[in-house]
Amino acid sequence: MKIINQIFSLRKILNIARARGKTVGFVPTMGALHRGHAALLRRCRRENDLTVLSIFVNPLQFGPHEDFRRYPRDLKHDVLLAKKENVDIIFHPSAELLYPKRYLTYIDVREITERLCGKTRPGHFRGVATVVGKLLHIINPDVLYLGQKDAQQCAVLDQMIRDLNFATKVRIVPTVRESDGLALSSRNAYLNAQERQEASILYQALKLAKSHVAHGQRQAKNVEAVMRDLIQNNTRAKIDYVACVNADTLQPIATLKGRTLIALAVFFGKTRLIDNIIIRIN
Ligand code: PAF
Repeated sequence: MKIINQIFSLRKILNIARARGKTVGFVPTMGALHRGHAALLRRCRRENDLTVLSIFVNPLQFGPHEDFRRYPRDLKHDVLLAKKENVDIIFHPSAELLYPKRYLTYIDVREITERLCGKTRPGHFRGVATVVGKLLHIINPDVLYLGQKDAQQCAVLDQMIRDLNFATKVRIVPTVRESDGLALSSRNAYLNAQERQEASILYQALKLAKSHVAHGQRQAKNVEAVMRDLIQNNTRAKIDYVACVNADTLQPIATLKGRTLIALAVFFGKTRLIDNIIIRIN
């Protein structure tokens, strides 16, 4: 496994591999790798000749009062996990390399970035789209692997890839969960014991929504209300949003139909966690 922090050396290796007919899969991350990332890497490994993992805590996607400085960083641990998952190349650039002085170019995906997490985190998806756009431009992978937990990020990047004619395919990999249902996230490390215990309510709320739909409920506002009640009646958490939206456009819907994303963002103390499920309604 190679750890590379220069763009020209990464491009050189990838050009040689490509000239030999090898396919390249890419998993972008901010490090603090966990079993969710391992699932992305395993799928990438299975479907491509070469697996490239990027580790870069992207300052551009954090708001001024967010957790950029304290975001967990543990390269040693990440390298061990990457080795175990047979990663071929770790790309670990510096912020100065990706955003040199007088950096002026950004990727702004409109509309779907303004809802859900985009409302609470203005500028977040601009940061995500810009860094992933740059990484795709540098790596030019055949396939990009993203986790379903970040459903809006998946929709935004999918839109960007189509709009900007990147030749990369997108694969969305199912969310990996703890035994009590909590979706794996690097931010789970911030939770204290009580918050961690309460955080399992997120998946319970999603399952409750699913069962209401299975029993015939089709009104988005009613599904959202049962989820809100469950969270508010059983935890001290603060709800950012609970929403039923069209899974492709992320447009709010009054009546559930077709591929529907049920998504939520909830604060446990200062830690904001997100989760979602997609259901299909005929
Ligand atoms: O999901 C993440 O970890 C980040 O948003 C990503 C896609 C690596 C971009 O910095």
